[in-house]
Amino acid sequence: MIKENAPLRDKTALITGATSGIGLAAATRFALEGALVIGVGRSEARNKQAESKIKSEIPDAKIAFLLADLGYQQQVRSLESEILVLLKGWDVNHLDILINNAGVYLANKRRNDKQIEMTFAVNHLAAFTLTYQLLPYLKRAQGGRVITLSSYAHRRTPINLKRIVNPWPYIGLLAYKRSKLCNILFTSELNRRCQDIEAFAFDPGLVNTGIASKSTPGISDLVWRFHRRSGTTTDVPVETLLLLADRTKTDLTNGIYYRDFQPDTPSRNALREDLACELWELSCQLTGINWI
Ligand SMILES: NC(=O)c1ccc[n+]([C@@H]2O[C@H](COP(=O)([O-])OP(=O)(O)OC[C@H]3O[C@@H](n4cnc5c(N)ncnc54)[C@H](OP(=O)(O)O)[C@@H]3O)[C@@H](O)[C@H]2O)c1
Repeated sequence: MIKENAPLRDKTALITGATSGIGLAAATRFALEGALVIGVGRSEARNKQAESKIKSEIPDAKIAFLLADLGYQQQVRSLESEILVLLKGWDVNHLDILINNAGVYLANKRRNDKQIEMTFAVNHLAAFTLTYQLLPYLKRAQGGRVITLSSYAHRRTPINLKRIVNPWPYIGLLAYKRSKLCNILFTSELNRRCQDIEAFAFDPGLVNTGIASKSTPGISDLVWRFHRRSGTTTDVPVETLLLLADRTKTDLTNGIYYRDFQPDTPSRNALREDLACELWELSCQLTGINWI
């Protein structure tokens, strides 16, 4: 049951990739803390399963799921009108917290309908477009927060934005690492360009989820199955997500990149303003968004 004085009572939160792993744990906890939660997932069946699981644990949870494969820009764009309907149903017109959590690791190269490599499309471009579309709602929340899941993996990652759309040769781990670097570059540029909201990039640490076992069975699946065993449970990163969602406890003065409750210094590439600006312009070009 949600407590009367639950800290997120009546806050609105949208969490992408809320059907498993960190996203599902966050959706559950945010609902328990009183938030009105919109989860986004790519499978109707897994959406239903996640919603029933949360409602069975928290019968008075205010939670709804929307369907979208975030690898496809058209599906990302279709979310806005559906989100609006849900918010109206809850009698609110703003969004307090957006958590860009959905992420993939793809051992083999895949491209979407626009020939954009899928890891980049899901892990970065979807977050770019969704944030843009939800910006008016986040601004209305007066201090809306955008939290984007990055990773320690962004470190020691060479990046050439001219080749990111169609990298060749394709190495799954490098594509993943680059996308996690993009998450931080996007966050810092978002803060520079939009003063009415606050954006954070978050490294959850090593977490025991199925992320790298979902694409194809093979060597990366085997390595990940072994590696994930030393990871934390999904409840651990959710504690820092709660901290980042709380305007009374965190602000931008200590940094935009967090790990284990603390601001941390990201890699040198992640701090490059020229790269962040170049990524922003490329993202505008690829999504057709004119975001100045
Ligand atoms: N696990 C770690 O050690 C770790 C470390 C650093 C950073 N992270 C980051 O944390 C985030 C969450 O990862 P996780 O470990 O919790 O992995 P996960 O359990 O695989 O969760 C990923 C979520 O994203 C969803 N998703 C994937 N592709 C999608 C698409 N095309 N459209 C819509 N939703 C999609 C998945 O849906 P399905 O349920 O349908 O698969 C799932 O709900 C990722 O951004 C990841 O990069 C994780």
